[in-house]
Amino acid sequence: MDKKEIVLSGIRATGNLHLGNYFGALSKFVRMQEDYDSMYFIADLHALTTNPDPQQLHCNVKNIIAEYLAAGLDPEKSTLFVQSDVPEVSELYLLLNMHVGIGELMRTASFKDKARKQLGIKTDNDNDGEIEKEIIGSDSNKRVNAGLLTYPTLMAVDILIQKAHKVPVGKDQEQHLELTRRFARRFNSFYGVELFPEPTNFDFGGAPIKVPGLDGSGKMGKSEGNCIYLIDDEKTLRKKVMRAVTDEGPKVPNQPVSQPVQNLFTLMELTSAPDVVQHFRDAYADCSIRYGDLKKQLAEDILKITLPIRERILEIQNDDAYMGRVVRLGAEKARERASKTLREAREIMGIRKFY
Ligand code: TRP
Repeated sequence: MDKKEIVLSGIRATGNLHLGNYFGALSKFVRMQEDYDSMYFIADLHALTTNPDPQQLHCNVKNIIAEYLAAGLDPEKSTLFVQSDVPEVSELYLLLNMHVGIGELMRTASFKDKARKQLGIKTDNDNDGEIEKEIIGSDSNKRVNAGLLTYPTLMAVDILIQKAHKVPVGKDQEQHLELTRRFARRFNSFYGVELFPEPTNFDFGGAPIKVPGLDGSGKMGKSEGNCIYLIDDEKTLRKKVMRAVTDEGPKVPNQPVSQPVQNLFTLMELTSAPDVVQHFRDAYADCSIRYGDLKKQLAEDILKITLPIRERILEIQNDDAYMGRVVRLGAEKARERASKTLREAREIMGIRKFY
């Protein structure tokens, strides 16, 4: 039996992977597959919460598989699978929901955010009353679906069904992980069992990496339209970087760096050699910097990372048979663990056969 700790993480199938996903998650997944019993999957059921176009959803799943592989995840070292290929997840989701409170789900930050958006409630004061009234109100009952509410149950099941110990996720998922621990504890203590281990976030050591976007604020994210995708071609990528938001340039020596320009420096620190970064820092400090030069260099250095990945993505996308083999093998491994846990959970809860 494999004694290595189980690491598991998933990514929602909502679009192509960008540099934020790459530095924040993928590149770490690649390193972790050497030392852990690692499982990475594509969360297509979670993507359903926003009712995507079916054809588009299917394409997204395939694209992400190709991108996972192209970025260096190795099906010989990790278990790579598609969430919906493990039907045991859906059944345990039903079972676990019997121990999850509607209230705690409604108080989850991600739910409140999404519900607020879908209901068109502007204020993000803690106006829970308003969300609840709108949701229960008769004319808005289809706008916020039950799948969105129970998103954390499904995520908890992804983790618990594999009895994963470590779950590398970003800050935005920490509350979901906390709920996972709570559900695990509750289930164990309700039935007096030790079925589910409590998973912890994976601590990579050092400061968490935040990959900024090109639009001057915040972080790189699919919804922000400020992204560099791994699949971007050379021309697109250069154009995006050259158009990145900056400012009017430093007027006095050693002037503090504005957020948009700091973002470019941060991207540079992730992608360029230290002496290159220092060169532009110095140029900023003595006011000789030309943002056009910085952007050209930045685009060049990003391309060195992304172009080889892009080429592999295109190759893998053309090989349906290979992708098929990878996810079939992954599903087999994932189902082996999942079906064992599900069997145990059913037995514990009293869902037993007569025959
Ligand atoms: N909710 C995660 C996200 O949006 C994706 C996800 C689904 C996940 N199930 C998971 C992450 C299990 C880690 C473990 O990013």
